[in-house]
Amino acid sequence: MMTTEYPVYHEIRDENEEIAKAEAAIDTLAMQRDDRWYPKFHIASDGGWINDPNGLCRYKGRYHVYYQLHPYGTQWGPMHWGHVSSTDMVSWRREPVTMAPSLEEEGQGVFSGSAIVDDEGKLRFYYTGERYNNGVDRTDGQWQVQMAAIAEDDDATKLKKLGMVIDCPREKVSEHFRDPKVWKQDGVWTMIHGVSDVKGNGQLWLYTSEDMVNWTFQYVLFEDPDPDVFMLECPDFFPLKDKDGNTKWVIVFSAMGAKPKGYMNRNTSNAAYMIGTWTPGEPFKPETELRLLDCGANYYAPQSFETDGRRIMYGWMRPFNESAPMQHDGWCGQMTLPRECFLGEDGDLHTVPVPEVDNLRINTFEHTVKAVENNEEKLVLEDAEAVEIELNINLKDTTAERAGLKVHATPDGSYTYVAYDAQAGTVVVDRQAAARGNRGYRAAVLTADELAADELQLRVFVDRGSVEVYVNDGLHVLSDYSYPSEGERAVKLCSESGVLAVDSLTVHDIKSIGLE
Ligand code: FRU
Repeated sequence: MMTTEYPVYHEIRDENEEIAKAEAAIDTLAMQRDDRWYPKFHIASDGGWINDPNGLCRYKGRYHVYYQLHPYGTQWGPMHWGHVSSTDMVSWRREPVTMAPSLEEEGQGVFSGSAIVDDEGKLRFYYTGERYNNGVDRTDGQWQVQMAAIAEDDDATKLKKLGMVIDCPREKVSEHFRDPKVWKQDGVWTMIHGVSDVKGNGQLWLYTSEDMVNWTFQYVLFEDPDPDVFMLECPDFFPLKDKDGNTKWVIVFSAMGAKPKGYMNRNTSNAAYMIGTWTPGEPFKPETELRLLDCGANYYAPQSFETDGRRIMYGWMRPFNESAPMQHDGWCGQMTLPRECFLGEDGDLHTVPVPEVDNLRINTFEHTVKAVENNEEKLVLEDAEAVEIELNINLKDTTAERAGLKVHATPDGSYTYVAYDAQAGTVVVDRQAAARGNRGYRAAVLTADELAADELQLRVFVDRGSVEVYVNDGLHVLSDYSYPSEGERAVKLCSESGVLAVDSLTVHDIKSIGLE
């Protein structure tokens, strides 16, 4: 039995009352919700704003996705934790709001964190408490500390807060100090979280603990060498085997401050990874440069968990600083599909939808199309609400400069273009013809091997308000919001300035995950 006392616990609001108020606010928003872009097969809140996935785990036979939630509007605000759960990652059940800011140390929000099963089989949570220095607003800075909680029931719907476990050494930190990720390393409870140090460097600090309550700072696991980066949000750190069976470590963080360069860092903040090695007790040693986890315009704050020897990751489809039309519909924000992480033959990180996602397929249709001629468009689907499209492009016979799929193509002429750009050697999600939301495009840069291959493989998931594109078994992914106009939502194949040669085209209707 762990008997350690928790050091700090100051209730300033009644947790149950706060949760009841939050539930009522969500219900009000959900009642007025417009579903034109509300996801059929992505996790979202019934109403209100959501961001980062939190507390991902599988516990007592159920998968749990918690998330950052502002129940009182469709913009970011005082953070709560929302919750959905599932036995199969395919059909989901909505659970009550799990945490509201009720302690002094988290008076302005229960921020992001993770979950871990302790030695007694109990599910524990570590998250960040957010407080304003002046108690009123952020103008005098924030005071962020790490907090703990424990699940009281097998369904992990009711949490007991345990209070603060790590205070912020404020003389060493320039206010950003958050997002704990906990795991057990060689029998030792280990935590990392993001820090902006006094000089404004983005760092990951590592702690260890024997009792999961008293945590001792050990050392800086990683400091971002980019001088523009001032904070690493939502860190993650996990081992994967490479093709020769060697253990590599993947470090993941969402960096604030990096400047765009070419195709890199086009978003306000960018979630990226490096692959390398790690000996506990030492800093992480990168063996690759920094690479984006997802090249789309709307991806951020991923978190992973491990189950059955699989490493599964969810990310938040973040609307960044653009106008997000869904905010007028009573909700804002969705998760990506669950993605399994592995190192490919190429040595790089791949993220693909977990095989369970195939169970969402209903009605599969194989098209016989073999080519799309120069400047031609071919209708694939007249009206697609929720579909997965598998398109294998024959690279040897394709002469087009650019070719691919127009999705969410509506009668007013707007669409989102998922294309192979032969000139640039990229796969793009181009929203220049969007009637609503941000325009512009994002690109995944193909490697020399991919460009020299016979085939380019695309898996395109089209939901009511988003597009997720997996390239070549998840070596690249692009996730974007896409807001179709009124009327039928067609899918078309098209080819510009040359021929698009198609090896195969398969379309699956996708069923609901049960959260609408
Ligand atoms: C990332 C983030 C986290 C923080 C949370 C607050 O999107 O800023 O660093 O814990 O969101 O909602």
